[in-house]
Amino acid sequence: MTQENVLEALKNVTYPGFTKDIVTFGFVKDVLVNGTTVGLTIDITSSADEVKAQLRDEATSELKKLGFEQIQINVTAPAAPKQMSNSVSGKNIAPHVKNFVMVSSGKGGVGKSTTSVNLAIAMAMQGKKVGLLDADIYGPNIPRMMGVNGQKPEIQGNKVQPLKAYGVEIMSMGSLMEDGQSLIWRGSMIMKAIEQFLRDILWSELDVLVIDMPPGTGDAQLTLAQSVPVTAGITVTTPQEVSLDDSRRSLDMFQKLHIPTAGIIENMSGFICPSCDAESDIFGMGTTVPVAKEYDTEVIARIPIEPAIRIGGDTGMPVTYHMPDSETAKRYQSAASNLLAFIDKVNAEGGADNSAVQPTTPPGVSACSTGAGAASAPAKAAPKAEGESCGTGCGCH
Ligand SMILES: Nc1ncnc2c1ncn2[C@@H]1O[C@H](COP(=O)(O)OP(=O)(O)OP(=O)(O)O)[C@@H](O)[C@H]1O
Ligand SMILES: [Mg+2]
Repeated sequence: MTQENVLEALKNVTYPGFTKDIVTFGFVKDVLVNGTTVGLTIDITSSADEVKAQLRDEATSELKKLGFEQIQINVTAPAAPKQMSNSVSGKNIAPHVKNFVMVSSGKGGVGKSTTSVNLAIAMAMQGKKVGLLDADIYGPNIPRMMGVNGQKPEIQGNKVQPLKAYGVEIMSMGSLMEDGQSLIWRGSMIMKAIEQFLRDILWSELDVLVIDMPPGTGDAQLTLAQSVPVTAGITVTTPQEVSLDDSRRSLDMFQKLHIPTAGIIENMSGFICPSCDAESDIFGMGTTVPVAKEYDTEVIARIPIEPAIRIGGDTGMPVTYHMPDSETAKRYQSAASNLLAFIDKVNAEGGADNSAVQPTTPPGVSACSTGAGAASAPAKAAPKAEGESCGTGCGCH
């Protein structure tokens, strides 16, 4: 057996998340063959342990198939960056924001935007510097819910000043477009828009940027995770089983994107009757607890169906700010405290790290030519015309 046989065999080992193999990438070095003994180095740019382990296992199995008995594989990778501050490892295109919180759901209409608004306001009321980014470019609702619809942000050079309400800085595609206008988004445009929201908006030095996502697990979620280290993910769900199935997808996405899961918000959980204050069960209550357990997380709030919440959203007068003594406002405040404690814990343990979701390639090798998603990318679910997005966030279009 020769060096060429070894390299040929290792062409069957693809780099996780890409279609290119480790030989083509130029990662395989120092191959030494001596009878049935082989030694080599795999020199990679990702420090993620799972990438290392997967490459070692697959390479070993390919070399065994060739007939080698002694296999010595040395995987070299940069040491995992550790930081004990609010900051981060991996890529961060908005370094002045200390923590990013992704509010997500598998299903539309379950209350992500309502949750994002009320959590952001609750954290601001608790003294934090908070921003709210409406990353739902298909259906931006945040301006109305925050009472800033119709207001146009100030442009400074090629940057945009966020709007402000209830102590929260706000940006939304809805504030940049004319009322009622709709845009048709291609995958690559979604990525650009999300990146610009992070790079070109003049956010202050924020403690937390809450990001209201479009429903599902698609390009917007992946781009966000590749652009900034997301400190905490929150999944919003309603209690019905059909909604829970979708929320599992959202929780699974957090795991794949290495986003620490802060918890589930069970929304529309029971009904508080405005005339009698009694709470009754409509969609079911408490059904999310087993799902939270499955994903080793917790339910951080149960928010009832309450007409005041819907009215607050429609009129731009969020319940957390305008009815601070209501049961619902108290639950949002408690969820916000929970979230802040979780963020502190993540940071105390070294901070969020998105280096494992980067399309890592050595200099001169294009990730885009591989065609597949980034490492650990979730199944793509965003509606997308054929051939319009590579889904990698690599900017290849
Ligand atoms: N707990 C609640 N009680 C009463 N109404 C609610 C509650 N939560 C949300 N709503 C209302 O339900 C509607 C949908 O909520 P929201 O827009 O927050 O959902 P979403 O998940 O962001 O939807 P989309 O997926 O379309 O972005 C809104 O009119 C909102 O005011
Ligand atoms: Mg929404």
